[in-house]
Amino acid sequence: MDLSVGTPVDPTPELIQAALRAAANAPGYPTVAGRDDLRAACSGWLARSLDVHVEPSAVLPGIGSKELIASIPRMLGLDPGSRVVIPRIAYPTYAVGALLAGCEPIATDEPESVDDATLVWLNSPGNPTGSVLPVQRMAEIVAWARANDVLVISDECYIELGWDLEPVSILHPSVCGDRHDGVLAVHSLSKRSNLAGYRFGFVAGDQQVVGDLLAVRKHAGMMVPTPVQFAAIAALGDDEHVAEQRERYRGRREILRTALTDAGMRIDDSAAGLYLWATRSEPCWDTVAWFADRGIVVTVALTATDAQVAEVAARLSAA
Ligand SMILES: Cc1ncc(COP(=O)(O)O)c(C=O)c1O
Repeated sequence: MDLSVGTPVDPTPELIQAALRAAANAPGYPTVAGRDDLRAACSGWLARSLDVHVEPSAVLPGIGSKELIASIPRMLGLDPGSRVVIPRIAYPTYAVGALLAGCEPIATDEPESVDDATLVWLNSPGNPTGSVLPVQRMAEIVAWARANDVLVISDECYIELGWDLEPVSILHPSVCGDRHDGVLAVHSLSKRSNLAGYRFGFVAGDQQVVGDLLAVRKHAGMMVPTPVQFAAIAALGDDEHVAEQRERYRGRREILRTALTDAGMRIDDSAAGLYLWATRSEPCWDTVAWFADRGIVVTVALTATDAQVAEVAARLSAA
């Protein structure tokens, strides 16, 4: 029972597959900026789902948010040795992207404590803790960053998967006012639309920074394949499949949360996203070994089928 990797296991919705198939004849190069209707779809989804208002020209698509995260420090031409702040407990790609650009990753949840920071990554809802940054805290970080000429980029790939809390985008007016200067958000369709195999993500926010990224990418590439652009337009235009997928994860989360707490574990954070951040109040490798003895590989991700989740719960209950 593999709960160790957050990879979607449910089918890509049929309307998205159909859009991909219908666009299979694609002899020409796609543009780096993406189709106008794709950028409009991203902008429309941000407005409809997150109450975030950006012009389509302040959106830039890419082949997956992992690739965007890994490449942004280099694409922005950050000076080697620059300090890139990443969350204390974080998805590894923030550090890898910084290192690839010759920068120094600094892991802390207090970016204000870092002298000479150039870029700050936030991740809310977070992987792997499922923590959600309060609006007030994000607003403080943005205000500090603007005052110190630091770019803040928030990875929001789990933003539609809020359980106990409603996550808010860094681009929302309650966080950054009615301007997006110095602020970007990274989004992904991988989890909300079961589209991880297609590779699609986008950045949106500060028009100037988006323009800088576009200018470099015109020659560095990472263009989104045309059929995937059409699939993304279909995915961004439909809310129903997202609601259905949310309910699947909500059910799995409930079963796993109950099974873990019944087995004596404490769950911290985990208010949103695809992970349960659980502890048996012992060194974590001991806990991982305890799970392994029962044939369960962790971290505790919700991305397993209903049958596997039920089996995990049964094994934990037998323990
Ligand atoms: C926090 C976080 N950001 C980004 C990604 C990458 O997603 P993708 O490249 O599929 O858009 C993941 C994948 O698990 C993730 O957990």
